[in-house]
Amino acid sequence: MSEKYFITTPRYYPSGKWHIGTCYTTVVCDALAEFKRKDGAEVFYLTGTDEHGQKIERIAAEKGVAIKDFLDERVGALKALWQKLGIKYDKFIRTTDGYHEKAVQKIFEQLYAQGDIYKSEYEGWYCTPCESFWTESQLKDGKCPDCGRAVEKAKEESYFFRLSKYQDKIINLIKENPEWLLPVPRQNEMLNNFLLPGLTDLSVTRTSFKWGIEVPFDKKHIVYVWVDALANYITALGYKGEDDLDFKKYWAATETHGEFAFAPVVHLMGKEIIRFHSIVWPALLLALGIPLPKKVYGHGWLLFGEDKVSKSKGNTVDPVVLSDKYSVDALRYFLLREVPFGSDGEYTNRAFLTRRNADLCNTLGNLLSRTAAMLMQYFGGAVPSYAAQKTGIHSELAVQANELFPKLREYIDKLLVPEALNEIFKLLSRANKYIDETTPWLLAKDPAKRDELALVLYNLAETLRISALALSPFLPDTAQRIFDTFGLKAPKFFAKNDKFGVLKPGTSVVIGEKLYDRIDIDKELALLDTENAAKEVKPAPKKEAKVIENKPEIAFGDFAKCDFRIGVVKACEKVAKSDKLLKFNIDFGTEERVI
Ligand code: MSP
Repeated sequence: MSEKYFITTPRYYPSGKWHIGTCYTTVVCDALAEFKRKDGAEVFYLTGTDEHGQKIERIAAEKGVAIKDFLDERVGALKALWQKLGIKYDKFIRTTDGYHEKAVQKIFEQLYAQGDIYKSEYEGWYCTPCESFWTESQLKDGKCPDCGRAVEKAKEESYFFRLSKYQDKIINLIKENPEWLLPVPRQNEMLNNFLLPGLTDLSVTRTSFKWGIEVPFDKKHIVYVWVDALANYITALGYKGEDDLDFKKYWAATETHGEFAFAPVVHLMGKEIIRFHSIVWPALLLALGIPLPKKVYGHGWLLFGEDKVSKSKGNTVDPVVLSDKYSVDALRYFLLREVPFGSDGEYTNRAFLTRRNADLCNTLGNLLSRTAAMLMQYFGGAVPSYAAQKTGIHSELAVQANELFPKLREYIDKLLVPEALNEIFKLLSRANKYIDETTPWLLAKDPAKRDELALVLYNLAETLRISALALSPFLPDTAQRIFDTFGLKAPKFFAKNDKFGVLKPGTSVVIGEKLYDRIDIDKELALLDTENAAKEVKPAPKKEAKVIENKPEIAFGDFAKCDFRIGVVKACEKVAKSDKLLKFNIDFGTEERVI
């Protein structure tokens, strides 16, 4: 039986303009899903929108449009964006889909019937003009966080989910399964900030607005939007619906650790919503008697200056503008590569264009054009026959290429996407270095070296083929264009294609258009400044991020020559008549020095 892999993005609020922050998780999930598909797993990639709640109700009212019309327009734009970015999701769920609403009602009924949901009163602060309940900690200077007006203490009837009952189980879940909630620092965040101080039961209904799913047996109550939204992960598969075959297929337990059963489910989301996914969601699943997801991953944000790129802050960067101007794959590459997964990463036009030039144009594009040109020039446009070598410089490249896929599989299982891409580009850089080392143009001058020249060019062409295969889940169009050079179709599966030596001698080479044109970055930035799009993509000048180019690695022997010492600064004073110099007295334990 093949491996099952169910991967999800969060449900996006269709409240504002779609931007590159929205694209981040979706592109990452797309690459992971496609990698697993090509690696033979049965994959289900789910995405969609979170459409209920007071905020949506208000925005539509402000715009003076019917809520559903507003949502349809936003969802249409989102689907068009995913199509543009080549996102191959298996299903797009909208929380306003009828089957989802019905299933949520059934979930609510079940939890109520079994006593996990109960009716009580919600005590908080009420803002009458906004008709909103707030907890003490949500207030801003004791006033309504929305309108700033005075609030009064009030009670509202509400249904509660017994979250506190699941507290100890979730503490165990996180502590006993250190790979469950990642990256690791999120575990302590959840434990120290929420779980160990103690969970209170969660209010899971609202009565102050209408745009949501009604509690079927008490219609003045609307199901809390987070319960509604989280449930989508199972309703999308048919849970409590007419056809639950996908649910049975993808949400069946495949592993058990201690008291917990896990389904092959991976949830990816931004770090601000980890709490819902790692506390509320497993508690709901435990209450429903359903296996837990195998992994919950809270990634960092794409920042713009110091701020999160976000709809509410209005500092959005338009993904359509970027992909139209610089190609879809250049945008995908930036998103997949630039943000260390788990940490925040900053978007600037310069960083984006630099990545495109350095990696896609120089490392990859040049390797392809040089190799194809040499195949044309020296072998009449066909991949030559060759005699493989088991040792020495020619075999090194083949060995590194053969190690690529095992390494990629490890990275992908750990959701380390930038590391996976880095590994592919390490191989491409090695191939570029191999050209400099073997100097094919000199070999070509010596008829006695014809066999070596053939071997060099075969090795280069084959490295490009393997790299294109590896790149295909991440940069599908670029990968296909590399395959086009050899008149090949990108294979559907990695199997049988992921080893060195598959490319057949005699394969014809077709020189196509350059993969990526080199961009004059300063000129381009100036141009962007004058265009409308630039207003959206221009960062605050003082926060322009520097792209750090790694220096070449040094051998351990060189590192061992360094002498690091730690000392205590005993005194520090300005040096007279100098603007910049400081005089330190430092105590290194064995001696005191003046620096
Ligand atoms: N509707 C909820 C999620 C419910 S999931 C059952 C929600 N929606 S959201 O539209 O506000 O955010 C959706 C996702 O987009 C979140 O994971 C969020 O972190 C992500 N991003 C929004 N802006 C982002 C960046 N600037 N960078 C990276 N991801 C960001 O929360």
